[in-house]
Amino acid sequence: MAKTKSVYFCQNCGAQSPKWIGKCPACGEWNTYAEEVISREKDKKGIPFIHDKKSSKPKPVQEITTSAEYRVNTLNHELNRVLGGGMVPGSVILVGGEPGIGKSTLLLQVALKMKGKKIAYVTGEESEQQIKMRAERVGIDNEETFIITETSTQVIFQHLEKLQPNLVVIDSIQTLNTEIIDSSAGSISQIRECASEMQRFAKHTNVPVFLIGHITKEGSLAGPKILEHMVDTVLQFEGDRNYGYRILRATKNRFGSTSELGIYEMQSEGLREVSNPSEILISQRDEDVSGVAIASMLEGMRPMLIEIQALVSSAAYGTPQRSSTGFDLRRMNMLLAVLEKRSGFRLGVKDVFLNIAGGLKVDDPAIDLSVIAAILSSNEDVPIDQKICFAAEVGLSGEIRPVNRIDQRIREADKLGFKKIFISKFNQKGLDLAKSSIKVIPVRKVEELFMKLFQ
Ligand code: TYD
Ligand code: MG
Repeated sequence: MAKTKSVYFCQNCGAQSPKWIGKCPACGEWNTYAEEVISREKDKKGIPFIHDKKSSKPKPVQEITTSAEYRVNTLNHELNRVLGGGMVPGSVILVGGEPGIGKSTLLLQVALKMKGKKIAYVTGEESEQQIKMRAERVGIDNEETFIITETSTQVIFQHLEKLQPNLVVIDSIQTLNTEIIDSSAGSISQIRECASEMQRFAKHTNVPVFLIGHITKEGSLAGPKILEHMVDTVLQFEGDRNYGYRILRATKNRFGSTSELGIYEMQSEGLREVSNPSEILISQRDEDVSGVAIASMLEGMRPMLIEIQALVSSAAYGTPQRSSTGFDLRRMNMLLAVLEKRSGFRLGVKDVFLNIAGGLKVDDPAIDLSVIAAILSSNEDVPIDQKICFAAEVGLSGEIRPVNRIDQRIREADKLGFKKIFISKFNQKGLDLAKSSIKVIPVRKVEELFMKLFQ
C-alpha cells in the first residue's frame, strides 16, 4: 500500500510544515501555506536507468581529473558569453522570464542551430504542431532535434534513454510531474522533485539540461527558492514587451561570472543576436535636437552607449510634473535638486520628463552626468553635438565623481567614433590614452560642465 502523507508548503519560499500556519517562519509572508499530498511508493524509482548507484569513495583532490574546462559551444555567441564560454557538460541551467518574453523561442533556436548534436526538446506547454510552426518561423531545420510532448518524468527518461541526446531542453519545469509524488504539476513538491531528478540525470549522463521556469508577478522564479540552489546556473531573460530588445543575464553561475550579459532583438523571424548594442540604443537622427545626451555606461561587464532624452518645459498646471522611464525617479529628483540648489538653475517650476532610449532600465550611476547634460540641453534649448558622450556620477554638492572602469568606457566611445567624452577630473589618474583618438574632457563641477558645453 502506498503511504500517503500530506504536508503544507509555503508557496513563496518552499518551507514546509506538518500543519497549516498563517505566517511563514522562514520568509515572513502571510497566507502562503497550501496543502500538498505526497505519497511515496517504495517500488517506484525516479529515474529508471539510474539504479546502478556507483559506490563513491573519498579521493584526494589532486587525483581528480577535470576534462580541462571543456565547454559545449551553443553556436549562440550571446548565450555562450552569458554562460561563461559555453555549456559545461552535466550542468543544469535554469532560464527564467515573464510569459511571452521569448524563452521558448530562444531555446528552440539554440536546439535547431546546434547541427551535428542530438537534441531533445521536451515540452509540456505546446503541441508538436505549435513547435513546428515556431521552427518554421525561425527558419532553421534540423533533423537531429527531437520534440517530446510529455510531462511525466518517468516517460521522459525512457525516451531520453533511447534517444541518447547531447542536450536536453525542458519547457517548462512547472509542467513536469513525477509519479512518486501525488500533488499536482506546478506545486512546490513536484517542482522540487522533478528538478532534482533532472539534476541527477544531468550529473549521471553528463548531458547539459536547460530548464525553462516561469516567474511570478513579483518577478522572482516561481517555485521554491531551493530550485535556484539546486541548479548550476540561473539565467534571467528580460526586456520590455513593447520593445524588441531582450537581455539575458546570469544571476547565478557556478562556472562563470554573473556580470556578463547577452542582448537579443526579437524579430518576426526569431531572436537576432545583437553583438553591438550601441547600434540599437542610440536613435538615428539627421539633425541635432536639444535634450539628448549619450552616456557611456556599463551593464555588467559590457560597455555600451545609450541615449538619454529629456524634456523640460514650463509647468502647465500648478504642480510641476516629474516623470522618468528607465531611470530611477528619486535619483532624477535628486539631480534636479542639485541643479537647483548648487548651480542655480530654476527648474522647480518646470515639468521634467526623462526617457532612456530602447526601453532599457539602467542603474549605472555613471549616467548621472548625461542625465544632467540632457536636462540642461533641453532647458537651454541648445543641442549637444552628436559626437559627445558622458561618463560620471554626480554627487549631492554638485561635484562630478569618478566611476569604475573608465578606460573601458572611453575605449567603447572611441571605437564607436565619438569625438569627446566628459569624465570626472578624479578619473584622470593613470589613464592611458595613447591609442585612442577621442578627446577626454575632465570636469569637476556641474557649472564647469555647463560652461564647456553651452558657452
Ligand atoms: P515565446 O518564446 O513563446 O515566449 P515564452 O516561452 O517566454 O513565453 O515568445 C513569444 C513571443 O515572441 C510572442 O509574443 C511572439 C513573439 N515572437 C516573435 O516576435 N517572433 C518570432 O519569430 C517568434 C517565434 C515569436
Ligand atoms: Mg514558452
